[in-house]
Amino acid sequence: MKQYLKIDEWSIIEESFDPGTQEISESVFSIGNGYMGGRANFEEQYSGHSLQGSYMAGVYYPDKTRVGWWKNGYPEYFAKVLNSTNWIGINIDIDGTPLDLAKSTVTDFRRVLNMKEGTLSRSFTAELEDGKKVQVESIRIVSMARQEIGAIRYSIVPLNFAGQLTITPYLDGDIKNKDANYDEKFWNEVEKQSAEDSGYLTLKTKKLDFHVTSAMAFDILVNGDKTTAQAEAIEQEKYVGSRVAIAVQPNDQVVIYKYAANVTSRNHGLGQLVDAAKAALDSAREAGFVTLLTEQTDAWRDKWKESDIIIEGDVSAQQAIRFNIFQLNQTYNGEDDRLNIGPKGFTGEKYGGSTYWDTEAYCVPFYLSTADASIARNLLIYRYKHLEKAKENARKLGFTKGALYPMVTMNGEECHNEWEITFEEIHRNGAIAYAIYNYVNYTGDQSYLGQYGLEVLVEISRFWEERVHYVPRKDQYVMLGVTGPNEYENNVNNNWYTNRIASWTMEYTLEALAYLQENEPARYAELLEKLELQDSETGKWSEIIAKMYYPVDEEMGIFLQQDGFLDKEIIQVKDVHPEHLPLNQKWSWDRILRSCFIKQADVLQGLYFLGDRYDLDTKKRNFDFYEPITVHESSLSPCIHAILACELGYKEKAYEMYLRTSRLDLDNYNNDTEDGCHTTSMAGTWMSIVHGFGGLRVLNGRLNLNPSNPGHWTSYSFKIMFRGSRLLVSVTDTQVTVTNETDIPASLTIYGQEYTVNGLSSVTAQGTNITA
Ligand code: BGC
Repeated sequence: MKQYLKIDEWSIIEESFDPGTQEISESVFSIGNGYMGGRANFEEQYSGHSLQGSYMAGVYYPDKTRVGWWKNGYPEYFAKVLNSTNWIGINIDIDGTPLDLAKSTVTDFRRVLNMKEGTLSRSFTAELEDGKKVQVESIRIVSMARQEIGAIRYSIVPLNFAGQLTITPYLDGDIKNKDANYDEKFWNEVEKQSAEDSGYLTLKTKKLDFHVTSAMAFDILVNGDKTTAQAEAIEQEKYVGSRVAIAVQPNDQVVIYKYAANVTSRNHGLGQLVDAAKAALDSAREAGFVTLLTEQTDAWRDKWKESDIIIEGDVSAQQAIRFNIFQLNQTYNGEDDRLNIGPKGFTGEKYGGSTYWDTEAYCVPFYLSTADASIARNLLIYRYKHLEKAKENARKLGFTKGALYPMVTMNGEECHNEWEITFEEIHRNGAIAYAIYNYVNYTGDQSYLGQYGLEVLVEISRFWEERVHYVPRKDQYVMLGVTGPNEYENNVNNNWYTNRIASWTMEYTLEALAYLQENEPARYAELLEKLELQDSETGKWSEIIAKMYYPVDEEMGIFLQQDGFLDKEIIQVKDVHPEHLPLNQKWSWDRILRSCFIKQADVLQGLYFLGDRYDLDTKKRNFDFYEPITVHESSLSPCIHAILACELGYKEKAYEMYLRTSRLDLDNYNNDTEDGCHTTSMAGTWMSIVHGFGGLRVLNGRLNLNPSNPGHWTSYSFKIMFRGSRLLVSVTDTQVTVTNETDIPASLTIYGQEYTVNGLSSVTAQGTNITA
């Protein structure tokens, strides 16, 4: 872990250039708008280590599966988030020598991600090997107001020489995914054109026929006047550019405004791509960079109005939570219901796919509270639309009924190919059911059950019914050969969490059926027929619920992560030499599997999800046992521990876990930020404040708050949307104030006391456990 970024409330700031951390910064400073985005690569050429990355949401490549030993049931492909045309490039050549920070002496370097306004900027002085010095300033946006548009202002000043600057703005589609299975390029060229101050390039994927047209246009000003220098259009394979040579004197200022539009066949007809790109581009260029910047600031102001969290008295924590919220809002905005939230967003390629259980378990709560309910609903409907594929997936694995959702997917098909995950990490099905409960419980939108939810619940319950089996000797149902959320154990028997979420799903499905029968009898009858649901099935679910086996240790009073867990040698993480961490980079896989160390919340994940069913003592005993042996090598882990630690009053632990989840990428805790940010776990960071310190729970449709102050903060506040009202919850050391920013009254419970907050007014509760 190396902390090299400056602490600031609203910005991420890097103050010197270090090629060793360039790829980490490329991830951290990424910008996007839900439709497209990319890593913080330099505009000018850079020959040091770098992952050049531009990504278009929903454009992917089914890369043929590569495994050592094929196992029946493996998917044919792994969906790669597709690295596409580099539209940011502006090469600078100084009297024949390329400006390349890897080959220059760089001083006064500063890179800033301004999260308030959504801009990425950079400034530096570079001295080339021949002693020529230039000063550069650039600012770049991916527009939140015009989803297809990106724009750059790039200024360069020769400091100590008169000479020739050759400037080449370009579009480069000769791109390779770093994670390509067969070292293959995924794009073919369709058409291109390069003109004096503009150009376009259309590429299509070798499979699936995704087309992307990128178009660019630029203006170059020398000391404020548009240059009259002639440009030379360049066309190469999958590349267009324009080269402009400009004679400069010391201290002349050359400014390049580059506008780019990226449009895809997901949103436009094939014949219309070039026109659509040109239209978007022309309108952006006409508006001009300053207007685009103003639109950007306005759009981000609106986002922050709904989702900001303010922490007073701890700038590091403040910066971190804003960074997490910023990245989430850059990654997914719910406008396109075909999209989802990839674990790396637009910041890298590593995980492929776009949808993991991360969405349901972590992201749904964030969007439920910070956006209109329709956004979380869209995330749920996304899975509803994949139900047929999930049924096919179950058949493919030999199940006669039910649905098994994929571990990783782009279009509903499984594309993960490690047997212990693909076939065994089936708890993901439970999270999808849980998200339906979460949505209905939070929003009160019971109609979702009849419209979409119940079908998914029934098919998942059917899967569980077939996946468990009855052991007469025990007179109980067991579930063998699974991988729980803790991926540092595979092929285990009776993972407590999986058994628990399976039986909970059946319970909730029965409840949903009963609800419909009573409240929407016509729809109930229709669904029974559509699903061909038999009484024998629901009867079986009740039996499984009653007779599900759960491994426990009575003496210690804990749930066992799986059968035999206590046979392991129990060593605490604090007793492992720091040189051995992270285990996944230092130990053999074999050693990890045999150890007691837990990658991420597993039993504790269950105690968080089903928190209203377990008392504090049970939570405490399990937390005290599992937390010290958890290494948190999944980014999804510390937030769950932070939430439970808050509930248990373990303030220091909660704070430690909060910092770990929130600064995971900023401080590169897991030594892997160069691959991209941990975008989905950022929703977990939000959860650790709102569900953790804020103690938000919705119990029987009622909003409950139990705020505590971690002790390092003077005060903090967060916003939540709840059933039409937007509430600002402010917590100091002594009191909690809830302000209703809308005119829709809200009822809630604070520390067990009931309140009504009328429109545009507030209530204050004196803290009982704020500083406890
Ligand atoms: C975690 C999974 C998670 C995946 C994507 C893995 O490291 O163990 O739970 O779904 O990352 O974030």
